[in-house]
Amino acid sequence: MPQGTNAFFIPECDSTNTLAVEAGNKGKVVPSWFIAGKQNAGRGRRGRPWTSETGNLFCSYLFQPSAQLSNITPLPFIVALALRDTLIALGCHPEQVKCKWPNDVLVNEQKISGILIESSTAHAGNTGFIVIGIGVNLAHTPSGTQFIATSLTDILDKTLSPQTVFKKLAKNLAERLQSWTQDQMSLLVEEWSACAWGLGNRREIRTNDATFHARVMGLAPDGALKLKLDDGSSKQIYAGDVFK
Ligand code: BTN
Repeated sequence: MPQGTNAFFIPECDSTNTLAVEAGNKGKVVPSWFIAGKQNAGRGRRGRPWTSETGNLFCSYLFQPSAQLSNITPLPFIVALALRDTLIALGCHPEQVKCKWPNDVLVNEQKISGILIESSTAHAGNTGFIVIGIGVNLAHTPSGTQFIATSLTDILDKTLSPQTVFKKLAKNLAERLQSWTQDQMSLLVEEWSACAWGLGNRREIRTNDATFHARVMGLAPDGALKLKLDDGSSKQIYAGDVFK
């Protein structure tokens, strides 16, 4: 762990994100990782559950936003790229590992990990905090998911321990967070786009209030997904999911 960062291993809990948010709400925020062997109520994006069997990685990083991260727009893309770095370092072929908007990482067009970012702005007695929750399918491939899932064992044909993967991920994320400066947004958009899944293709888009098809055109500097609708008009969305 980088100096000044705590790491708490919890054999079993409901959700490492919930633990991290509770710690953040207590007041003084010390950068901390919460890593669980098993989650009983793992949370995904948009209120979905996250299947959390022993053998997969479940971890959440709590920290106080620095001046350069006061705007969290870049965060989902920074985290997805750190996760991609990690999967490649563990043996996945770079061509196989793609980033899917907003913050999924796919291997061979199947979802291997999920990222859930939660934040609290400064208020009385609290400086504000960010929680980055990351789940990586290592030994188990969840079934019945909205987007077809895979696991590292499926890909590499060997099973890596959550500890091994966590150590690499924590290091890669720390490096990417540390080197981030706001004026790099265009470089980040470029790097993310170079390994993005589905750019230029017509895909199914699901938002809170609609499901429709559109061509995925790319990432806007503010993190929105740029779409071209079938009637030729353009649209940007800030929340939602992209499907095949
Ligand atoms: C998604 O819907 O893709 C995001 C899933 C995020 C799951 C991780 S597992 C560790 C952390 N704890 C949670 O309850 N959720 C995140």
